[in-house]
Amino acid sequence: MASVNVCVIYYSATGNLHTMALAAAEGAHRAGASVRVRKVRELAPPEAVESVPAWARHLQDTADIEEAALDDLSWADALLFGTPTRFGNVCSQLKAFIDTTGGLWQAGALADKVVSAFTATGTAHGGQESTILALSNTFYHWGAIIVPPGYTDPVQFRTGNPYGTSHVTGVGGSAGGPTETVLQAARHQARRVTETAAALKAGRAA
Ligand SMILES: Cc1cc2nc3c(=O)[nH]c(=O)nc-3n(C[C@H](O)[C@H](O)[C@H](O)COP(=O)(O)O)c2cc1C
Repeated sequence: MASVNVCVIYYSATGNLHTMALAAAEGAHRAGASVRVRKVRELAPPEAVESVPAWARHLQDTADIEEAALDDLSWADALLFGTPTRFGNVCSQLKAFIDTTGGLWQAGALADKVVSAFTATGTAHGGQESTILALSNTFYHWGAIIVPPGYTDPVQFRTGNPYGTSHVTGVGGSAGGPTETVLQAARHQARRVTETAAALKAGRAA
């Protein structure tokens, strides 16, 4: 299999997306990819962060994780993006990073990247699909190749979201963090992304 570079880029306030990002990284790594995990910069004012102890704690606990940079996008053959759902949409922190990619887009450097996305919500019907679809608007503009998990593995019938791995943190979900099923789905999604990127790379080289 052609060796591929996979970058997992995420935002997490209270740790759920962080855990999912690590599972995705593990899936890509197991599939043979070179992997980077990058968080996007926190943009919320300190008083907002400090008003939620779990948020402040998570920010401190993940201080050593490198922040995403444009170089990570250039380096990667494949990208997995993780965002919490915010009012049915992509979080502003990830969107702000995406909005720095105009130069790369203009140079055509984001075309043909293999991309996929994952999310978490507070409630089961709180907007997982709308968030992933909203992020996909960017992927269309980039000319990226969207690789959704679909129902390509038995775990997808247990998590039930073909758009991207999703976790419910509150009502009807798992307040203790992503379940093993969710983590399995994240690993599967990343493996599928890695294998697709490798096949494309090998095909182009042939
Ligand atoms: C400002 C704000 C808006 C949110 N909007 C939604 C929403 O539309 N639907 C939903 O189910 N949960 C919503 N949530 C809950 C988050 O999606 C959930 O806490 C998050 O996915 C947890 O991820 P994290 O632990 O990685 O930060 C919202 C939370 C905040 C703070």
